[in-house]
Amino acid sequence: MSNVLITGANRGIGLQLAKQYAARGDHVLATCRNPDSADELNAAAGDNLTVLPLVPTDGDSVAALASAVSGSGVDVLINNAGTPGPAPDQQAALSMDFDGWLETFNVNTLAPLRVLQGLHPLLQKGTDAKAITITSQMGALDLNWPTMYAYCSSKAAVNKVMRMISLELAKDNIAVGLIHPGWVQTDMGGDQADITPEESAAGIISVIDGINLENTGSFMKWNGEPHNW
Ligand SMILES: NC(=O)c1ccc[n+]([C@@H]2O[C@H](COP(=O)([O-])OP(=O)(O)OC[C@H]3O[C@@H](n4cnc5c(N)ncnc54)[C@H](OP(=O)(O)O)[C@@H]3O)[C@@H](O)[C@H]2O)c1
Repeated sequence: MSNVLITGANRGIGLQLAKQYAARGDHVLATCRNPDSADELNAAAGDNLTVLPLVPTDGDSVAALASAVSGSGVDVLINNAGTPGPAPDQQAALSMDFDGWLETFNVNTLAPLRVLQGLHPLLQKGTDAKAITITSQMGALDLNWPTMYAYCSSKAAVNKVMRMISLELAKDNIAVGLIHPGWVQTDMGGDQADITPEESAAGIISVIDGINLENTGSFMKWNGEPHNW
């Protein structure tokens, strides 16, 4: 049984990750910004799933979470919370909402490192500890789709950050992984997306099971294939 801490667990991919880890017997620390309105997540709470507040962009909130769970180690951290950023026509080459771009970086790039830093002492106490970030194919430099500049650049940046930190955390026996979840039928992915959140989460959990210090720093797809950078 692992202690698995997930950000953005109230809906979409994060909710399915929380449910599936709990169902297989792991203990899930399921975090979200507004637990009071997280109805589906609260309905899944029980012996294997605890709902906790976390605003990943807020250092005080990260510190409060770390304190709240300090009694146990964290074996798997999943930085899942993410935003698509401004409307597509407001994150284009010649029309950019720059404040929105900054906020997109704050959520998608800075917050994953902020959470990882805050939980680092607990990951050090974990067993076969892993720090996972749900990134996107949109962050791959070799994907030539000139769209969603804020979102794409924030995911490219978090890929670089987590790739670098994988080299540093190996000495602490913490493995690092970056996973593209597929194009998924969530609020972000839309109804026309390729796969369900259930399929995506099942694939992601299988990929995370295979992440270790030998392959730390990898960029993988939800189906287990390696992803180009
Ligand atoms: N769906 C796809 O096709 C797809 C493809 C590639 C990558 N991804 C990545 O997969 C991850 C999960 O996405 P999803 O499809 O499950 O999206 P989703 O259903 O829209 O859920 C997004 C999650 O992120 C949280 N979030 C949104 N804005 C936030 C903010 N400003 N600060 C903190 N948390 C915030 C949401 O919390 P609230 O409910 O409080 O807003 C929610 O828990 C994201 O990192 C996303 O970039 C998704």
